[in-house]
Amino acid sequence: MTTADSATAQAFANSWNNLPPGSVYTPSQFIDWMQPLQQSDFDGKEVLELGCGNGSLLVHSCHWQPGRIVGVDLGASVQTARRNVGDFPFAEIVQADLVEFASEGFDLVYCIGVLHHLKDPVAGFASVVRNTRPGGRFHCWVYAREGNAIVIALVEPIRKIASRLPWWITKYLIATPLVAPYFVYAKLLRALHRLFPEQAPRWFSWAPLREYSLWIAERSFSFFRHVAFDQLVTPQTTYLSRTQIEQWLSSRADIEAGSSYIIFRNGNSWKFGARRATSNSGQPT
Ligand SMILES: C[S@@+](CC[C@H](N)C(=O)[O-])C[C@H]1O[C@@H](n2cnc3c(N)ncnc32)[C@H](O)[C@@H]1O
Repeated sequence: MTTADSATAQAFANSWNNLPPGSVYTPSQFIDWMQPLQQSDFDGKEVLELGCGNGSLLVHSCHWQPGRIVGVDLGASVQTARRNVGDFPFAEIVQADLVEFASEGFDLVYCIGVLHHLKDPVAGFASVVRNTRPGGRFHCWVYAREGNAIVIALVEPIRKIASRLPWWITKYLIATPLVAPYFVYAKLLRALHRLFPEQAPRWFSWAPLREYSLWIAERSFSFFRHVAFDQLVTPQTTYLSRTQIEQWLSSRADIEAGSSYIIFRNGNSWKFGARRATSNSGQPT
């Protein structure tokens, strides 16, 4: 099947199919991505992940004991996703375009790090809501326009070239040397915040990507490189503003009034979600 996002999905498969087995995320990273969702939102529930990559989030979701969990991805990363969730009989992986994916509706739908890579992010968001059963919840995470000025200025021009090259050139000859100085910067920033916990937030309030760097500095170089490669390998990235997300959430008649949230995460991304209305007051606009 060839769709608008086929090239993006294939690029990501080159990233996700060349990782060690298991999840690339730690349990605390998973919890952080999912908040305000908690284990009780998964426990015994029917859960759907749209754009599941190699199943790195699914592996953690499975430990929260859903009754059934389905991961959807358009790319060949479904092969590694199937292996990574192989121990969980209630987990299923489907290779499909999430924009067109149709189901009876899940108690919980989440979509992490995907909408900003779609040719049509609004159509992707419509699918998230459509696949949430009335009364169920959805939760998304996207790159923010806010807080990413340096990434948009420096990384985006490189991505536009790197995403056209063979993946191994992008990974080993571009992402690896480029991420090395950022790795040193983030680790140094974290060390200074540990040494001077009172003063450092004030001293370094100006530092580019401060919050994000403190978050990622918990991890080793291979995770830094994975993130850098993931950013550079994709042919399609959109940085979304809070205003755009507010508009997405407010323009639909099938979202329960007062249930939505938008959370600024690590100073450069948005988590947002809501509950789907039980009775539809009209067609989504
Ligand atoms: C950055 S990865 C995120 C993977 C996973 N959610 C995570 O956080 O680990 C984006 C994923 O979205 C998938 N994707 C992109 N466009 C898609 C589409 N139209 N339908 C289904 N999957 C898509 C890609 O193949 C890729 O695996």
